[in-house]
Amino acid sequence: MARSWATLGVDLHLEPSGSGGLRRGLTDALRDAVRTGRLAPGTRLPSSRSLAADLGIARNTVAEAYADLVAEGWLTARQGSGTRVATGTPTPPGTAPTAPHRTPARPRHDLIPGTPDLAAFPRTEWLKATRRALATAPFHALGYGDPRGRPELRTALAGYLARARGVRTGPDTIVVTAGFSHALTILGKVLRARGVRTVAVESYGLDVHWALLRGAGLATPALPYDGLGTDPREPGEAGAVLLTPAHQFPMGTPLHPDRRAAVVAWARRTGGLVLEDDYDGEFRYDRQPVGALQGLAPDRVVYLGTASKSLAPGLRLGWMALPPDLAAEAVSAKGQADTVGVLEQLTLAEFLTSGAYDRHVRSSRLRYRRRRDALTAAVTTRAPEVRVTGIAAGLHAVLRLPPGTEESVVQAAAWQNLALHGLSAHRHPQAVTDPLDALVVGYGTPPDSAWAAALEALCRVLP
Ligand SMILES: Cc1ncc(COP(=O)(O)O)c(C=O)c1O
Repeated sequence: MARSWATLGVDLHLEPSGSGGLRRGLTDALRDAVRTGRLAPGTRLPSSRSLAADLGIARNTVAEAYADLVAEGWLTARQGSGTRVATGTPTPPGTAPTAPHRTPARPRHDLIPGTPDLAAFPRTEWLKATRRALATAPFHALGYGDPRGRPELRTALAGYLARARGVRTGPDTIVVTAGFSHALTILGKVLRARGVRTVAVESYGLDVHWALLRGAGLATPALPYDGLGTDPREPGEAGAVLLTPAHQFPMGTPLHPDRRAAVVAWARRTGGLVLEDDYDGEFRYDRQPVGALQGLAPDRVVYLGTASKSLAPGLRLGWMALPPDLAAEAVSAKGQADTVGVLEQLTLAEFLTSGAYDRHVRSSRLRYRRRRDALTAAVTTRAPEVRVTGIAAGLHAVLRLPPGTEESVVQAAAWQNLALHGLSAHRHPQAVTDPLDALVVGYGTPPDSAWAAALEALCRVLP
């Protein structure tokens, strides 16, 4: 009878019957694994004793099979380094080794904006929520399901967003996505299919997001930016505008109340849409959070939220609350297969309804607020020419530098192995505003243990 073992990280299929019996079966299986590339050149094989124990056969049989393959040149055996796949073994077509994928080296001090403190991810609570979610989910929850996302999560989100962000929505008009970027990609397709050609974006923002819209065939001109922040009052020919109203990214100011009203009036007058990126709306320190713009005009604003700041970007969890007429189009642009894993969705639903999300946001807010205060105090005393701005909310601050110094400060930071962004990295190529010299400092990024050293490194490079 043929037997298969998953061992050595590959399936070995042995044919114990026939002329050669087990020894022949094992030799053939190993030779085949080397020839087809399932066992790569240089791979160390287990000792004959442990492979024999794994396979439940005599140790001698394994030793003899190894000896056969050494004699044939497929394996090498050397005192002290065990039995390995020979390095000169032929590489099967299509399996030529490719350059290994290298993860970029991590900087010694990381103040790149965009990530929360990943070391503070609430692992225990998240695990508990996963257990509870999986234990109580009906079996059919594990099927393909509703392309809008699990109803448990959409219901939990509708409640949370109404309570915490003033969003007016319901489970039927929420679509769960793999983060904000996924939602924006879907919206790009929907807008283009509706005949929109232009989405106006802010003079400061993230070029990866503008590129997603351009990938859908949309032009992305810049809105003016002035002393009151982004000015979306006259977006020209645009059929939609992309804004960060609660906390302009990266400048850190909320959209001025007059401009909130004006952009809603524009959308109503022209049938335009506002895409509201509420990426860190939970993190406001000095007063109540600025409510979502969507609450003013649920029929004209698409609200976009993400767990990337409140929990971790690696979860790839986000959501949109859509005007009812847009929801069906977004669902068909998204499609059935393009979705988020059900376990993550159920876990987040459980996390929200159990109160664990609120507790985590509250404790994170405290941690980040302390860091923000330490940053402001340190910069004010050690670099009096530098002004810390945009600090009422979020996980990053904008440090305004003396004119003409941004490039040299970013360069000095690189020499110190301190990663941060100059403001110019977030400036739209056609920005409608005077250039400013500044740093965008992600004070949320380092783990607690690395924060003090990162702050010290920052102060050393400031003018
Ligand atoms: C301005 C802004 N919007 C949205 C996001 C979240 O993107 P995603 O949900 O795709 O991780 C980020 C994260 O860095 C951001 O900085």
